[in-house]
Amino acid sequence: MRKNIVAGNWKMNKNLQEGIQLAKELNEALKGKSLNCDVIVGTPFIHLASVAEAVDTNKIGVAAQNCADKESGAYTGEVSSEMVASTGAKYVILGHSERRAYYHETPEILKEKVLLALKNDLTPIFCIGEVLEERESEKHFEVVKSQIEASLFELSPEDFSKIVLAYEPVWAIGTGKTASPEQAQEMHAFIRKTLVEKYGKEIADNTSILYGGSANAGNAKELFSNPDVDGGLIGGASLSVDKFMPIIEAF
Ligand code: PGA
Repeated sequence: MRKNIVAGNWKMNKNLQEGIQLAKELNEALKGKSLNCDVIVGTPFIHLASVAEAVDTNKIGVAAQNCADKESGAYTGEVSSEMVASTGAKYVILGHSERRAYYHETPEILKEKVLLALKNDLTPIFCIGEVLEERESEKHFEVVKSQIEASLFELSPEDFSKIVLAYEPVWAIGTGKTASPEQAQEMHAFIRKTLVEKYGKEIADNTSILYGGSANAGNAKELFSNPDVDGGLIGGASLSVDKFMPIIEAF
């Protein structure tokens, strides 16, 4: 059966020392606890190796927040999937709305990134979600379906079964305006139905679909209690152990 996952997305926050400190504090807080979910932290590239070193990676998975769409070579400033994997990271967040909007990542570019991540044994946490205008004009289902189709539906069933999805309505990210549990469940059920149609019930049932967008200690339990919400991708509330732990413990 699919896994429950609580993944932090630090975004562009914390210098190296602060990041190591936060990772160590989380590691301490999780010691001796038996959890009902996998825990992941998504850090800036420069933190990956040190964080992977500082934590018990059996308890805390480490994720990059991006990787290059090229394998290697003359791409100044880029970081490849192979490099990410060599740090001890096991995951990579791909297709975050901030990457799509500010860095012009297209579905085609994301398709390449997903393939390279899989080739290097990284699990992609693939983000999808509509902007407010699309929801208000009732295009949200269509938009999310086409984001999934455009970047993921050429994958073999075997490769697709390695993907984690994160539904993040853009209007809820960093705004304090969370999707209601009903809105989250409705979209997650729609996503799962889309997966059933393409890859069949078994793969769809085994795919973890996380919710992201102003999830916090106060709303996590209600969000996670929905049958198709398998955890969260947490931005702001992953930046301190005090805020992140109660979300992990919401499972
Ligand atoms: P937020 O960010 O929890 O701060 O809204 C979530 C995300 O962008 O992954």
